[in-house]
Amino acid sequence: MSETSVFIPSGPNDCAKLGPTGWTSCQDGAEVAIYGPVSGQVIGKVHAYTTHEVDEAIEKLEQGYQTWKRTLLVDRARLLHQWADKLQENAPQLANLLMLEIAKNRRDSLDEIQRSADFIHYTAEEGLRLTGETLFGDAFPGQTREKVSMVGRVPLGVVLAIPPFNYPVNLAVTKIAPALMGGNVVILKPPTQGAFAGMNITNLAYEAGIPDNVIIAVTGVGRVIGDYLVAHPKVNMINFTGSTQTGQHIAQKAIMVPLLLELGGKDAAIVLPDADIDRARDNIVSGAFSFSGQRCTAVKRVLVVKDIADQLSAKVAEKVMALTVGNPEDDCVVTPLISTQAADFVWDMINEAISQGAVSLTPLRREGNLVYPVVLDYVTRDMRVAWEEPFGPVLPIIRIDGAEEGVALANASEYGLQAAIFTQDVSRAFMLAEELDVGTVQINGKTSRGPDHFPFVGTKASGMGAQGVRYSLLAMTRLKSTVLNI
Ligand code: NAP
Ligand code: G3H
Repeated sequence: MSETSVFIPSGPNDCAKLGPTGWTSCQDGAEVAIYGPVSGQVIGKVHAYTTHEVDEAIEKLEQGYQTWKRTLLVDRARLLHQWADKLQENAPQLANLLMLEIAKNRRDSLDEIQRSADFIHYTAEEGLRLTGETLFGDAFPGQTREKVSMVGRVPLGVVLAIPPFNYPVNLAVTKIAPALMGGNVVILKPPTQGAFAGMNITNLAYEAGIPDNVIIAVTGVGRVIGDYLVAHPKVNMINFTGSTQTGQHIAQKAIMVPLLLELGGKDAAIVLPDADIDRARDNIVSGAFSFSGQRCTAVKRVLVVKDIADQLSAKVAEKVMALTVGNPEDDCVVTPLISTQAADFVWDMINEAISQGAVSLTPLRREGNLVYPVVLDYVTRDMRVAWEEPFGPVLPIIRIDGAEEGVALANASEYGLQAAIFTQDVSRAFMLAEELDVGTVQINGKTSRGPDHFPFVGTKASGMGAQGVRYSLLAMTRLKSTVLNI
């Protein structure tokens, strides 16, 4: 098959499977067709793992675990650095693949690869600094100093990593790198759209020297093999990013294993009358529309105080109309949505809101999966778009009486990922931030995950646990105490 490190499918009959010796054609068995969002056509196929093959993969990982958990930290770190270098070397090809598979524009695709390489390097370094502690018994009543606990961190075992389509490289790497650095082995279930990306980064890990019994990518449709993977008795931890619906399903199926769940969001940008309006506009527009709004942290509603609502909405609409719309190769901001079903969902939500009285400040236009960006003003609480996550290029504006109403409306959401407050009164912003029931509050900036050593947390339906280099390392290892009785 491919002679370069990165395998890019060349057409609908190209079916790929990643084995220990590299790429092979799919031989017997089921295949999964991967559709390109731009063409709407099959761009290639991947092998659909059977439950038997999943068992074989996990068995192989269990063998690998015996060696990997004993591999010196410096050696694990060195291999991770080499993997990051491989990603960087192959960034242009990987970006081509992301453009094809998920229609992410070239600049953002390249950023995703670079960010992933940076994440791996940082994790390799941070993992070296995970230290334990020593406790002496005499701090507790009735005990003596002759009892000493040495507390350290140990791996969990087999980690199941399930990333979503919108960051098939980055949200795979942010799971795999801390898991491996912590001494775990990883079974990666890539998203269907993003399956080629998932297999390619796994292959680059092999090329970097990471053994093929330490990470294995198993491809297949989530709803077909997902339950089997999630409830597998030999999976020791699940690290999932995706929709709240799937996350809740996984939480019901998983049996007594730690879960790290990063789920959906409905992040609000609250704009107060004393805000720097141009700064708010710039952050809101890039926050809402980059990668066509297909980001968990996208600004998904603006809550603006009435006094400045006309001014802000006009400025936002003007900037949105200047956004580039089209193909990922042309570096357009708004590109075709991941599927026709996704585009239908957004389109229906927009039209429903308009039929209920919302006013579109931008022309309504759709060509297949390509939905042109929409700013909806005069959105009210009875509209679906005020509460649901569209995962597409639509920004609802809700007019409010004051900051307190904004906080109440933000908190009334089932989600609790992030919120933004735009005001020049930073003390007030701090007071309001205290009241917001979200994982992160951004003051005078758009909602977003990075930098990736910051904690990334969701409350309520937005998730469980914390991501971020150090937090992920902690989540994918556990404490172990060895007590010396002198
Ligand atoms: P999704 O449909 O929930 O899929 C996410 C992943 O789960 C995919 O790999 C999918 O595989 C897999 N999956 C589906 N059903 C499964 C099952 N029964 N068991 C195990 N795995 C299963 O989400 P998406 O459409 O890819 O991503 C969009 C959603 O993710 C949005 O709601 C967004 O807000 C959220 N998201 C959240 C964050 C965060 O950090 N909070 C980050 C990114 C995205 P298939 O592709 O094969 O179905
Ligand atoms: O889609 C969810 C991602 O975790 C968001 O990351 O804010 O860097 O785009 P981002």
